[in-house]
Amino acid sequence: MRLYDLAKPILFQLDAETAHRSVHTLLDAIEGTAAEQLLADHYTVVDSRLSTEVFGQRFNNPVGVAAGFDKNAEIPRTLAALGFGHVEVGGVTAEPQAGNPRPRMFRLPEDRALINRMGFNNDGADIIGERLADTDCKVPVGVNIGKSKSAPNDEAEADYRYTFERVREGGDYFVVNVSSPNTPGLRELQQRDRLESILGTLQDAGASPLLVKLSPNLTDAATEDALAVVDDLNLDGVIATNTSTDRPASLRGEAAAEEGGLSGKPIEEKATSMVRFVAERTDKPVVGVGGVSDAEGAYEKIRNGASVVQLYTGLVYEGPAIARDINSGLLELLERDGFDSVEDAVGVDL
Ligand SMILES: Cc1cc2nc3c(=O)[nH]c(=O)nc-3n(C[C@H](O)[C@H](O)[C@H](O)COP(=O)(O)O)c2cc1C
Repeated sequence: MRLYDLAKPILFQLDAETAHRSVHTLLDAIEGTAAEQLLADHYTVVDSRLSTEVFGQRFNNPVGVAAGFDKNAEIPRTLAALGFGHVEVGGVTAEPQAGNPRPRMFRLPEDRALINRMGFNNDGADIIGERLADTDCKVPVGVNIGKSKSAPNDEAEADYRYTFERVREGGDYFVVNVSSPNTPGLRELQQRDRLESILGTLQDAGASPLLVKLSPNLTDAATEDALAVVDDLNLDGVIATNTSTDRPASLRGEAAAEEGGLSGKPIEEKATSMVRFVAERTDKPVVGVGGVSDAEGAYEKIRNGASVVQLYTGLVYEGPAIARDINSGLLELLERDGFDSVEDAVGVDL
């Protein structure tokens, strides 16, 4: 019996966002206390075979927290203590934003999925930038940068740049998020000219390592266009994928018709095939996200080209031991298949 087996039914009685806030508050209270070290001792799998260097950063293990879980960069250290090898904070926007009206986050327990339309609720770049600069985290911290709702698309460059300049000190890598379905018109910025201009502006401002996060709803041709920009600008990597606006017919959860982005199990296959599509077309590192909830799923993304993986929804359904479980499971899978390290397994199925 694990603690989360007891906590989960209680949390699941609460509205999804309220449950998230409660967990967040608890994790925040742990940060900087003796309990942080206790968690780290309990949940961290230390093994050099899990360690990997990607876009100039050393990752102790390949399992990270995806953007959106710690939007305001309040708990990266506690998330690291849960055994994650990196934490991506944000989405951060230039201006503080309240996001969409609640409810805006829904569980689909039958599908092990979530639908959210948070709409980039966050404290804004000034506050988050200061918070990040004051945080000493043992694992790489990426900063996911979104566009302020008030900034028209043709002024997106300045908006992204403002945020980058505020968060640059505390970030180990930077992600241009042009793929959230919850800011009107945002995904149009994945279109080639716009993407080139935004990413180029950030590169000129000194953003490095710089990655772009793509939507699973892009057509193959649109993905290829985005990848052409990645290659032209010599970007540092691609994150595949964000949440999906598709609603597979298999969904059983009552909330299936809610507007927003779908995450979790139902997007796992699609996300993995997008990882593969990207890895086949660029030699830049790929960060694989979407539906990862166990070692087999993480391994599948790695074999299909992901250098590291991230997860959000899996943490909600599996609980705080998820990074430890995936990391120890990965070690078994590597051993089974005769690989000396995770790095050796990246892209072997391509
Ligand atoms: C409630 C919620 C908020 C999210 N917020 C962001 C965000 O601000 N920026 C972003 O790039 N992705 C965001 N995501 C997407 C995740 O980072 C991830 O790409 C997606 O959920 C797929 O992974 P998963 O199936 O492991 O959850 C959010 C996801 C959820 C569920």
